[in-house]
Order: sequence, then structure tokens, then C-alpha cells
Amino acid sequence: MFAERTNWNLKSNHLSEALAQHRAANKLLLDLTVSNPTECGFLYDRGSILQALANPASLSYNPEPKGMLSAREGIDEYYSTHGIAIPPENVILTTSTSEAYSFTFRILCSPGDQVLIPEPSYPLCSFLADIHDVKLVSYPLLYDHAWQIDFHALQQAVTPRTRGIIVVNPNNPTGHFCKADEIQKLNEVCSSSRIAIIADEVFLDFHLETKRPPSFAANNTSLTFTMSGLSKIAGLPQMKAAWLLTSGPEELKAPALSRLEVIADTFLSTNTPIQLAIPRFLELRHGFQNQLMARIRRNLAKLDAQLAAQSSCSRLEVEGGWYTVLRVPVTRPDEDLAVELLNTQGIYVHPGHFYDFPADGYLIVSLITPAESFDEGIRRLLSVF
Ligand SMILES: Cc1ncc(COP(=O)(O)O)c(C=O)c1O
Repeated sequence: MFAERTNWNLKSNHLSEALAQHRAANKLLLDLTVSNPTECGFLYDRGSILQALANPASLSYNPEPKGMLSAREGIDEYYSTHGIAIPPENVILTTSTSEAYSFTFRILCSPGDQVLIPEPSYPLCSFLADIHDVKLVSYPLLYDHAWQIDFHALQQAVTPRTRGIIVVNPNNPTGHFCKADEIQKLNEVCSSSRIAIIADEVFLDFHLETKRPPSFAANNTSLTFTMSGLSKIAGLPQMKAAWLLTSGPEELKAPALSRLEVIADTFLSTNTPIQLAIPRFLELRHGFQNQLMARIRRNLAKLDAQLAAQSSCSRLEVEGGWYTVLRVPVTRPDEDLAVELLNTQGIYVHPGHFYDFPADGYLIVSLITPAESFDEGIRRLLSVF
């Protein structure tokens, strides 16, 4: 009855079962995995957000395949604050970064073609790849005081069927930003083998160093698809607004854009009130980002203070993003450990294997967790070792 590509194993894992039982029993839960910014105690400019949604122009429908020019100009304005000039015709609006991935997979890959994906990283792409008949092949990120791409392994992973290389900049959960030399090496691999770069920059603005890390939006050496959206940049995941930006050599960029335009025209998925509000939502991002960065710095400082008082656990270096990776003693598989932490301490953390860490001994903690839950959750976590 159903297509083979949907033959997923949808059984819940031990951890999600334990979490459901914990919640059903109404037990205290210190959730150190939170990623929904609307539930983390940040103050939003509610009046301005609601006002932006009440534009009378929402009452008429003027579909544009790439999305309204005013919205795309708002996105250009966002990149201009990164020192990058983007022509609005290179931008296509989507309802989510996932949809931007979808469009990109659709124009790059025939069934069975391959896309390289960093490991570890957020498990967003496996279903997306299945839905589009794309085969994901991982390439490792290595940790040695900081994260970096293993270029030797990446090159080994390239085959004649490789169509794209995904970079998550900064990566979720490692917080690794691509450095200028890594971008250059990626360009060498991609332009010599006619492979596109697919850059997921939803966390781009959340960096701990004062110097702004480079964005792939400025990359013109190889065909590059850069995606981001309001869900992280402005802390508004409920608005379902994102974008896909195409850059690269003209002879590749132009046909890529016309093909993408056909896909976008087929769906016309972004609704009018949201498109009209995008420029205002982007203006409002600063207030949100300031609060979020203050929370991240505060939680990291408190985490470091608690880590300094013991010797069993440590954390990996973090350059940006919303998460940190804890290194913990390997006493059992990470998922069992996460279940035990839930059952005995009432704390919920993600095991490293959720993000395809190659070994046990890693737990992922959200740095946007509200302060009290964070401090108490970390205290309970460290008390176990
Ligand atoms: C790295 C990364 N990319 C994309 C997304 C999804 O973004 P969107 O809400 O725009 O689909 C997430 C969500 O957490 C993410 O972590």
C-alpha cells in the first residue's frame, strides 16, 4: 500500500518512553534539552509582533514565486549587517529551513544520489533525505581542543553520486563554526567535483567570540545554498518563515535559481501576513538575541563553576549555538545513562548518540535552559558521578 521510502521504524526509544512515563506521573522534571525559545522565559515585544501581523495588505493575494520583494529585501538588510550584499533575486522564501533543505535536495539529487552530512549533528536530515530518495553519507567532525572538519575523511566519502555537502554553521550541538580555511578547502572539494555546498546557518548570529564568524552567504566560489530563518534568528519558530539563498559562479547560480523558482511557484507555501511581517520581525531580533546570548553566557559561567568543583566531568569547547557537550565517564551506553538521570534525578538530557556521536560518554545540554532549572539540573547531573 505504501511507498518503501516511508517504511520507517517509528517505535519510541527507551528514553522517550521513560520521558512519557515521567510526565504522565506528574513528577518534577528539569528539562535540560529545551530548544523552543518561546517557552524559555525570554521577553518578546508582544505589541510589535502582533502589530506586524495586522497589515491591511494581508487582505489581498499577490503571489510571487520567490516570495514578496519587501520580505526578501528585509532578508538582504539582515545580511547587510553581516557585511554581505545580497541581490533580492537570489533569495527564495520558505516556511522552514527544513523546506529549504527539501527544495535544495529536489534540484540537486536524482533518486539514490548522495549528500554528505557532518557527524555529529542534529538529526533533522534523515527523514528529509528519505522523503526525497537521497542517501545521506556522514563525514566526521573531529575534536581536539576545538572542533574541525576531517577533510581527509570528507574527501574519502565523496563518490561520483555526491551532489551536496551539508555544513551546519555553527553546528548543532558541537557549536563549531567553519573557519575561513575550512571554507576554502570545502570550495576546493566542491568546485573540483561539481558538488554544491548546503549551509545551514540557523544559529549564525549566536557566537561567543566578539568577531563575527564568516557566513556562507558570501561564498561565490562554488554553488552554495545558504539557509536560515526566523525560528532561531528572531526566536519565532511559530511564524514558520525561513529562506534559501543561492550564490556561486553565475553559470551554476542562474540555472539553480530558475529551477528553484519552479519548485517555489508550485507550492507558494509562505503565507501573506507572515511575508509582510518578515522585515519587522527581523528588526526585532536584536532584543531577543541580546537576552539569549546573556542567558548562554550566564549558564556557561555557572556550568564552568560547577565543573571546577569536581573532576569526573568536563565540557567541550563551544564557539556558538545554543548547546554544550558534556564529557562524562563511560559507565554504560549514553541512552541508558540518560534514562537513569531521568528516573533518579528528574533531569532530562540528550545522549550523544541522538546526534550520532561516534562513542559513548557525551551528554548534550541546552544553554538556553532557564537559570534555576539549569543550575539545579547540572548540580544533580554532576552528583551522579
Ligand atoms: C541545525 C538546525 N537546522 C534547522 C533547524 C530547523 O529550523 P526551522 O525551524 O527553520 O525548520 C534546526 C532546529 O532545531 C536546527 O537545529
